[in-house]
Amino acid sequence: MRLDKFICKSSNLTRLDASEQIIGGRVCLNGIVTTSTSAQVHQNNTVTLNGQKLIARAFRYLLMHKPARTICSNVDEHYPSIFNFLDIERASELHIAGRLDADTTGLLLLTDDGHWSYNITVPAKGCKKVYRVFLNRALDDSAILKFAEGIQLQGEARPTLPSRLEIVNKKEALLTITEGRFHQVKRMFAAVGNRVASLHREQIGAINLDVDEGHWRHLTENEVSSFSQPSEIVSRRILNQPLSRLVTGERRPTDD
Ligand code: URA
Repeated sequence: MRLDKFICKSSNLTRLDASEQIIGGRVCLNGIVTTSTSAQVHQNNTVTLNGQKLIARAFRYLLMHKPARTICSNVDEHYPSIFNFLDIERASELHIAGRLDADTTGLLLLTDDGHWSYNITVPAKGCKKVYRVFLNRALDDSAILKFAEGIQLQGEARPTLPSRLEIVNKKEALLTITEGRFHQVKRMFAAVGNRVASLHREQIGAINLDVDEGHWRHLTENEVSSFSQPSEIVSRRILNQPLSRLVTGERRPTDD
């Protein structure tokens, strides 16, 4: 972590105040005065400010149930920001691991730990996001194979990574994807001649949405560490199901 960020995380100073302290020669990293704001602080390093040892606050990990007609940015646009629902200190230090559109509801994960959210958002890590999709037109079984093979989205160089489409009924499906391209789910259904009527994210990795709309809770230690495990429950749960079972919409007892 950068030295200026470390100081913010271990004091009440803003990034600007922290930079001033560093440049002013009042910060020592492992006993040596350091005037570089971008110097890296590693685990077990000692940082002092005016001779006082600094201890970084623990990272925070939250889940929230995003209501419709809210936005995931801090910027005041047409709709209120989801950050308005966070009645905690320093909410502005948190970022969202995978934003949702204003009209999409469901599971958001928030943190101030950039390494952790990287494991969730980077497609190479294979973290699965499960969306419940309601559609304007009846679904056709042929979409299952198309989604499994990858969909070429307009204006994109590469098709989407393989995804899992489970048809619940004619106009409802569960879609599991490992990417987070711009309006990805809506564009995937548009590419097969359908249109998303409403969209709800109900699962990320092994974490299920279990709070009411507009509410949030801290993640448990197990939930936080579940993202460093290569095989998530969801991948066993969804990817092991034969296509025929997905087409009929039959769910296994373990699914609930
Ligand atoms: N895909 C979309 O199209 N919208 C979202 O909000 C999330 C995924």
